[in-house]
Amino acid sequence: MARVIGGVGTTHVPSIGKAIADRKQNDPYWKPFFDGFHAVHKWLASEKPDVAVVFSNDHGLNFFLDKMPTFAIGAANEYRNEDEGWGIPVSRAAKGNAALSWHIINEVVGEGFDLTMCQEMLVDHAVTIPLQLMWPNGDWPVIVPVSINTVQHPLPSMARCYELGRSVGRAIACYPENVKVMVIGTGGLSHQLDGKRAGFINKDFDKLCMDQLVADPESLTRYTIPQVVELAGAQGVEFLNWMAMRGALTGTVSELHRNYHIPISNTAAATVLFENKPRVERRKAA
Ligand code: DHB
Ligand code: FE
Repeated sequence: MARVIGGVGTTHVPSIGKAIADRKQNDPYWKPFFDGFHAVHKWLASEKPDVAVVFSNDHGLNFFLDKMPTFAIGAANEYRNEDEGWGIPVSRAAKGNAALSWHIINEVVGEGFDLTMCQEMLVDHAVTIPLQLMWPNGDWPVIVPVSINTVQHPLPSMARCYELGRSVGRAIACYPENVKVMVIGTGGLSHQLDGKRAGFINKDFDKLCMDQLVADPESLTRYTIPQVVELAGAQGVEFLNWMAMRGALTGTVSELHRNYHIPISNTAAATVLFENKPRVERRKAA
């Protein structure tokens, strides 16, 4: 049976792609951010996941405002990147696993989430940058991309994204193949790219989100989308991807590592690593 072994939440700022291409990992501006991935690299080297389910939002490469699925999932054996216009190199393609995608689609649609199924799907910096950060040697696992609309209002709620993640977690747990799966949520934390509040960052709210994501993720579902926009910035709503990632960890979750650094571009940059252990059923004493 497949197992979800853990999850990572990470920022996906495009200029990280340029820093990687220019080998700036040790420059004073970038070092505190890139250093936050050493613990993730160690964990990945010992756990060796076969598959990464990546919750992220598309920024216009694949879906635009004219057609915007609330939730979409890739069902392909390959996901290409294209020039997104950020001045970052086009990434190589990521491998997919269409059979696993279709299994997840069947289970999750069966539970009432109406996913848009994409047998062709491009992936943008919200997928390629986290892959480059987590597997700098290029040894990427197979991916299943899940796209959540964080761009065109109305957005799905915090509760809905958390529940979507839970449904994906249950789907993985009943996949009959013996694969190790990890989940990734990308974007955030607090940031706003334009308008009067451009550059807005909220350290206190970011900390609360990271703390509660481990201890009591359901408590975060009380925030409405307008409240998240107010507290985290217009693009801080990308935290919805982190909610879905956390939802997919349905066992006993502990935080193995956290890095928080302000700013990378206009963003409060964060990296968290969660371990997901199967819940042990305790026998009652006779
Ligand atoms: C930035 C952050 C993002 O999440 C994004 O998608 C694009 C740009 C930034 O801070 O520059
Ligand atoms: Fe983004």
